[in-house]
Amino acid sequence: MDGGGKNIWIIANWKSNKTIQEALDWISAVGPKLEKRENLKVVICTTFTAIEEVKKAVMVGNYPLIVGSQDLSPFPEGAYTGEEPAIILKQFAELSIIGHSERRQNFGETDEMVSKKVKQALDNQITPLVCVQGKETQVPEGVKLIAYEPIFAIGTGNPDTPENANEIAENFKEKYGIEVLYGGSVTSKNVKDFVTMDNINGVLVVGASLDPEEFVRIVQNAIR
Ligand code: 13P
Repeated sequence: MDGGGKNIWIIANWKSNKTIQEALDWISAVGPKLEKRENLKVVICTTFTAIEEVKKAVMVGNYPLIVGSQDLSPFPEGAYTGEEPAIILKQFAELSIIGHSERRQNFGETDEMVSKKVKQALDNQITPLVCVQGKETQVPEGVKLIAYEPIFAIGTGNPDTPENANEIAENFKEKYGIEVLYGGSVTSKNVKDFVTMDNINGVLVVGASLDPEEFVRIVQNAIR
């Protein structure tokens, strides 16, 4: 693999897409095509509705897929209507996206809430993947994995340049000693340009992850 044996994370975030049946069809199309490699970590972040069925399908198929959520509650279990706490989610999720720009923009998520969610994740053995939108975004203590997701690049077909993403990743790496992913208009055509950058440990993919064939191509091109 390129990149001197570093971890390569390919993380799919379906956002608010896919019924349970569509999710299961995706798992059976993608699962058997994934190679098992020590330093390749392929993650699927489903809706809360689909997560249990997806987890079962991954276990039954013995696929090299890690199941994750797209968010979690900043609170523990208890009287918090509508929220999914880490202590319950950990039955299914090994990783959780936290602080995605859409949550910051549409749901008023603040750095303080991001920190609380990170604490809940860490207390319950869920890996927090914190999304940062630029060099200034705060990274809470204990976080080991972040994704740089510039807003102009999300869903626009206009990715950042690999060189700029690499420079931002280097900045975070030096400051916090963590792994950094890139997210924003990643496709099977450009994935290799990002993952071969010294300081980039993988990608966070949305639009191009919804189609199973394109997603398999992304994984294959990333490790070739
Ligand atoms: P797209 O892959 O659809 O551009 O979305 C990226 C994203 O939301 C990164 O967090």
